[in-house]
Amino acid sequence: MRLRGKRALVTGGSEGIGLAIAEAFAEEGAAVAIVGRDAGKLASARTKLAGRAETIQADLTTSEGIDKVATVVAAAGRPLDVLVNNAGVAFLVPFETVTDEQYRNSFALNVTAVFFLTQKLLPQLGPGASVINISSYFAGKMIPKRPSSLYSLSKGALNSLTKSLAFELGPRGIRVNAIAPGTIDTAMRRRSVDNLPDAAKAELKAYVERSYPLGRIGQAADVAGMAVHLASDESAWTSGAILAVDGGYTAG
Ligand SMILES: NC(=O)c1ccc[n+]([C@@H]2O[C@H](COP(=O)([O-])OP(=O)(O)OC[C@H]3O[C@@H](n4cnc5c(N)ncnc54)[C@H](OP(=O)(O)O)[C@@H]3O)[C@@H](O)[C@H]2O)c1
Repeated sequence: MRLRGKRALVTGGSEGIGLAIAEAFAEEGAAVAIVGRDAGKLASARTKLAGRAETIQADLTTSEGIDKVATVVAAAGRPLDVLVNNAGVAFLVPFETVTDEQYRNSFALNVTAVFFLTQKLLPQLGPGASVINISSYFAGKMIPKRPSSLYSLSKGALNSLTKSLAFELGPRGIRVNAIAPGTIDTAMRRRSVDNLPDAAKAELKAYVERSYPLGRIGQAADVAGMAVHLASDESAWTSGAILAVDGGYTAG
């Protein structure tokens, strides 16, 4: 058990990549808490986790939500070893149609929530703690006909935050890294692909198949393995890294 005795918080842990990370952490012996907005999704995740996770219902786009999570974590009265800032939103819409609301929502969840949740949880994060931000290949690699200005901007900001916090928090013994997944088969991806016209869907599928050296898109569990490594003491000297977990996609 690589995470025995560790306490972890996973935002957006009720489905997709966050749930896979929470499951892997629990399997490796960690005490896990997950955050999400929807009570039904949290309850179903708790069942999948066989009751091994605490659930915290909060909307991280609001300061009240961030404060609630920080308060619940602090109330446990023991340090937090691993913080996974995973909750995120992707509006893959053309630059000229991005609305003020989409812009604000993206930054609120993908950047501001990571900034202030990490800041508010600092008193709980001691030497040896690991902060893991879930970024995206879209921070630096674009796909033809998949307009990503807003999403790429927010994940680029998250990568900058990851590196600057690695510098600022390193002297306290806190490691800060990001995982940049390639395309992962989750509800988020299905939402953004399902509304494409059939021809565009077929084109995207063909693009993915020829662009991923390992010949397939990822599954949430593909990301969880890297998260366990970054959460564990195996990665004790890894900080400030943006680690690609993308089937080799960004190698080209
Ligand atoms: N899927 C991909 O292809 C892919 C690729 C690269 C990077 N990523 C990144 O990986 C992360 C997870 O993506 P995913 O595909 O697993 O997403 P997902 O399937 O849409 O799951 C998102 C999770 O975040 C929670 N969430 C959403 N908005 C929230 C809010 N305002 N406050 C609190 N929780 C919130 C959701 O629960 P509720 O809806 O109940 O709140 C859910 O648990 C994101 O940061 C995403 O940008 C995904």
